Amino acid sequence: MHLSHLMPLRTVHEALADNLPSPRRVVLGALTLTSRYCLAPLAGYTNLPFRLAIRPFGGLGLATTDLVNAKALLRGSQKTLELIQTCPEDHPLSIQIYGGNGSEMAAAAQWIQEHGASVVDINMGCPVNKVIRNGCGAAMMCQPDVTLEMVQKVVEAVRLPVTVKMRLGWDDRHLSAPFFAREFEQIGVAGVTIHGRTRAQGFHGAVNREGIRQVVEAVERIPVFGNGDLRTCEDVDGMMRETGCAGVAIGRGALLNPWIFAQLAEWETRGTVRPPATYEQRLDFMERHFHWLTRLRDERHACLTFRKAANWYCKALKPGRVLQQRLLMINRVAEFDELLGEWRERVRREGPPPGWQIQPAIAVPSGPNERW
Ligand SMILES: Cc1cc2nc3c(=O)[nH]c(=O)nc-3n(C[C@H](O)[C@H](O)[C@H](O)COP(=O)(O)O)c2cc1C
Repeated sequence: MHLSHLMPLRTVHEALADNLPSPRRVVLGALTLTSRYCLAPLAGYTNLPFRLAIRPFGGLGLATTDLVNAKALLRGSQKTLELIQTCPEDHPLSIQIYGGNGSEMAAAAQWIQEHGASVVDINMGCPVNKVIRNGCGAAMMCQPDVTLEMVQKVVEAVRLPVTVKMRLGWDDRHLSAPFFAREFEQIGVAGVTIHGRTRAQGFHGAVNREGIRQVVEAVERIPVFGNGDLRTCEDVDGMMRETGCAGVAIGRGALLNPWIFAQLAEWETRGTVRPPATYEQRLDFMERHFHWLTRLRDERHACLTFRKAANWYCKALKPGRVLQQRLLMINRVAEFDELLGEWRERVRREGPPPGWQIQPAIAVPSGPNERW
């Protein structure tokens, strides 16, 4: 790469000079993460094919699966097992569970330990009704005693590090994350990730970094990972400086820019940030993602599963109606290869479509809370 392609960031040099408060490696119990930049779970997106497509870029400290229901896992539900499918290259991996029963959560954690994951993560932040109506996800923040008992059962059931991902609190009047983080640390939780919003906020409004800082200050030694709206190296730098967090978890930013972990690692070691990926590199990434799917599932199943991702790639890559319709209806690997060939040829002839650099929005629950 030509040096002229490297864009120095002022904040990078400042950050290095200031010697950021957090270590570059993060310790979670007996596990040391080689990078403090982690992939936050995005149900439906951050599955094994996606993780395998981004891992070779480097810089990723830990990835987490979609949330899965503890009871469904113990039942051996095929859909649940698919959601947490992994392989040796997909390492280190945290499997995220949710549930309302301590014994089931503990048994699910043991299952996870026996099946080779590195970390058990407890979901305490999911705001959607399907999850909270059973006292799970963010609703755990409303019942401190039950929650602490349940988390302790999970911690005691396994040797693996147990982490918790939570929001700042239920609403602005109940910012209980500092309390929970402190209590969790006492009962042996190895780390916490904080999405800097309340359940009442959903995905709206600004991330409250001051709130995350209070969680960092509430614990003595376990790492806190700051989460929410991190899209660039500068965002991450800001999050780490303002909160003192030991690491970050990036969700939508990684979907928008699968190179973000590699960029962060480069930023940390060299103080420079690569220019954003080109349109062609994004097509290559989509191809890699698709081919991982086809290696992991039979052809028909892979093509069906790809439809959700295809929707996303069409939003991001704006191929136009005709190519979009074809991509969404892919049934065979050969069809995908042919379509991609035409797509690349068109880009060679005409250049990328106008406006492709504008980042699309990722669908999140919206409207009144009761309807999430
Ligand atoms: C589509 C979608 C799915 C999500 N799925 C999960 C999940 O399964 N488990 C979880 O803890 N958080 C989940 N989240 C929350 C994210 O992990 C993250 O906390 C939130 O999106 C804010 O971070 P970001 O701005 O980096 O995406 C999801 C968010 C979105 C948008």
